[in-house]
Amino acid sequence: MARVAVVTGGTRGIGKAIALALNKAGYRVVANYAGNEEKAKTFEKDTGIPARKWDVADFGACMDACGQIAKEFGPVEVLVNNAGITRDATMRKMARESWDAVVDTNLGGCFNMCKAVWEGMLDRGFGRIVNIGSINGQAGQYGQVNYAAAKSGIHGFTKALAQEGAAKGITVNAIAPGYIDTDMVAAVPPNVLEKIVARIPVGRLGKADEIARGVAFLVADDAGFITGSTMSINGGQHMY
Ligand code: CAA
Repeated sequence: MARVAVVTGGTRGIGKAIALALNKAGYRVVANYAGNEEKAKTFEKDTGIPARKWDVADFGACMDACGQIAKEFGPVEVLVNNAGITRDATMRKMARESWDAVVDTNLGGCFNMCKAVWEGMLDRGFGRIVNIGSINGQAGQYGQVNYAAAKSGIHGFTKALAQEGAAKGITVNAIAPGYIDTDMVAAVPPNVLEKIVARIPVGRLGKADEIARGVAFLVADDAGFITGSTMSINGGQHMY
C-alpha cells in the first residue's frame, strides 16, 4: 500500500510543489492548509490531492487532524513540515505578536506535527520527516529576528529528533531553501529583492520544484542512512 504523506502548507508555493512531487512518486498525499480556502479548493480540484484545514500552531488541532487522516487514509509515515509565515520588521518596529505568530507557526508547528505522528512511527519502526528550514535560519536576515530564530530552531530540532529516531527506522532531515519564486518572496520589497538576487551565484530565484526534488529524495525508502542532515538548496547563496 502507498505510504501516507502529510505536507503542511501543502496547497501553495513550495508545499504545493512538494505535494505534487510526492503524489507523482506514488505516495498517498494529504495537503494541509490554514487560511486560503479558495486556493485549497482549486488545488484539490486540479490535483485530486485531498486538502485538509487546520492550524499547525494549534497542538490539539494537529493531534485531531493526524488521527482523522490515519482513519481515512492510513497512518502517517511521511511528514513534511513546510507551513511557514513571515512577519518581517526591524527589531525597533517588530510587535510581540509578530514574534509569537512566527515562532508558534514555524517552529511550534513543527513540534506539534512531529508529536502527532511520532508514537505511530516508533510503533511501526518506520518514518520519514523533512522539516523546511531556511537560508535565513542559517545566515540570519535583516528584518527577520522572528523568522530567523524559528528557522534556526528548526535546524536544531531536526538534529535532536534525528538522534531519537535513528535506531528506530525514522529519519529526520531538514532542507534549507534559499530565495524561491513564491508569493512569500514576492512580498519582499522589489529594491531589497533585487539586491538579494544579485548575491545568488546561480543568478536567479529558485523554483519550488527544485525544493520538492530534495524532499522526494530524502523521504525515499532507500534514504535510511541520511538523518540529521541539512540539505541547502539556495543557488550557492550561502555555502554552509
Ligand atoms: N542590510 C542592511 N541594511 C538594510 C537591509 C539589509 N539587508 N535591508 C534594509 N536595510 C536598511 C535600509 O537600507 C534602510 O536604511 P536607511 O534608513 O539608512 O535608508 C533601513 O534598513 C530601513 O529599511 P526599509 O526602508 O526597508 O525599512 P522598513 O521598516 O520599511 O522595512 C524590512 C524593513 C521589513 C526589513 C524590509 O527591508 C524587508 O522586507 N526586507 C526583506 C527581508 C527579507 O529578506 N525577508 C525574506 C522574506 S522571504 C523568506 O523569508 C523565505 C526564505 O526562507 C528565504
